[in-house]
Amino acid sequence: MLSSKKILLIISGGIAAYKSLDIIRLLRKEGAQVTCVLTKGGSQFITPLSVASLSENQVYDDLWSLIDETQMGHIRLSREHDLIVLAPATANLMAKMAHGLADGLASTLLLASDKPVLVAPAMNPVMWANEATKSNVETLKKRGIKFVGPAEGDMACGETGLGRMSEAEDILTAIKDFFFERPLKGLKALVTAGPTYEAIDPVRFIGNRSSGKQGYAIARALLEAGAQVTLISGPTRIRPVNGANMVHVESAEEMLEACEAVLPADICVCSAAVSDWRATSMSEQKIKKEAGNLPPSLSLTENPDILERLSNHPTKRPSLIIGFAAETENIGKHAKVKLEKKGCDWIMANLVGKDEKGHEKAFGSDENQIYFYSQEHDSKETWEHMSKKHIADRLVVKIVEHYKAK
Ligand code: CTP
Repeated sequence: MLSSKKILLIISGGIAAYKSLDIIRLLRKEGAQVTCVLTKGGSQFITPLSVASLSENQVYDDLWSLIDETQMGHIRLSREHDLIVLAPATANLMAKMAHGLADGLASTLLLASDKPVLVAPAMNPVMWANEATKSNVETLKKRGIKFVGPAEGDMACGETGLGRMSEAEDILTAIKDFFFERPLKGLKALVTAGPTYEAIDPVRFIGNRSSGKQGYAIARALLEAGAQVTLISGPTRIRPVNGANMVHVESAEEMLEACEAVLPADICVCSAAVSDWRATSMSEQKIKKEAGNLPPSLSLTENPDILERLSNHPTKRPSLIIGFAAETENIGKHAKVKLEKKGCDWIMANLVGKDEKGHEKAFGSDENQIYFYSQEHDSKETWEHMSKKHIADRLVVKIVEHYKAK
């Protein structure tokens, strides 16, 4: 998302400087170019070597460095970036900014810069509440400087209150908010993902091959578009989506309960491969093989259809509901029947099963092909074969267009 962006990260002297390493890592992962300035205080907490390794870039820490000034003067450093981020920003550095002091590399380039600045303060709660700090923050805000945090919680000094630096993920979100319009801001989204496991006994279950990759990618794309996302996930091996409210469930009944607890929501994407049936009764003890006995028979009961229930919710139906259709044949016919029967607005149909080379077409794969059906426009689109991330992005573009047209 940040691939063309150049960020100058100033790390000043606070214990929260260790979190700045994570900020660098996250920014690099998003494709941003990161240049770091480490103040003398900052380098008491983390080393230039770790900052240089993670940013894959030179670290600047001395206004009077002959080499740095000949290669990249502090004026150039202050002008060649799209955004300057101060994290952690100490009370001292903010005071210098507010009063226009320039007695080190960080304060000098801040005074010399005409670039936007984002500040992530970190200090003891009493320092944050001090009238001097309050008035400095006020001055900086009046100049258009943006703030993220501080957050409330336990401090390294043993006190509790407002002053902790925001978490790296929240700072990343603030950086993205700065660069991008968040078209789904203010909307609440619910996404189901992964398989469900229906217990037969304490060790066995009925499951399926869903990996959850598509649902997780959709949750991420919705978050990036600014929606508030709850991801209700069956058992998967995927890392939780940062920034989403993660709810882990096992069975279809648990998934339904978790979905209903999230309502009201604006957008609902049911990408989970919910098991259609569960064992009529779960054995409390492990079912044993007895010599000479026939294998046990399994009696099945139908599970609730979550997509159908949400689409027909009497009072809290989300305004846009998207379902999936996993088919092995007659994709168009089945997708249209599902759209009608379940009462959702859109269906993302895909072929499941193995291709001629024996590879899974959708389940577990990183790519898929989608046939998109809409109730409202009675239309069908064939999307080209693409990664699940791109499918998620394309779906979110359609969601944004849908709300813009309203
Ligand atoms: N779905 C659901 N709850 C169920 C079954 C399915 O919410 N108990 C949702 C899925 O998340 C998906 C859509 O319904 O969005 C279609 O799922 P799919 O497995 O393709 O179809 P089924 O409804 O299970 O029908 P069938 O197995 O007969 O194809």
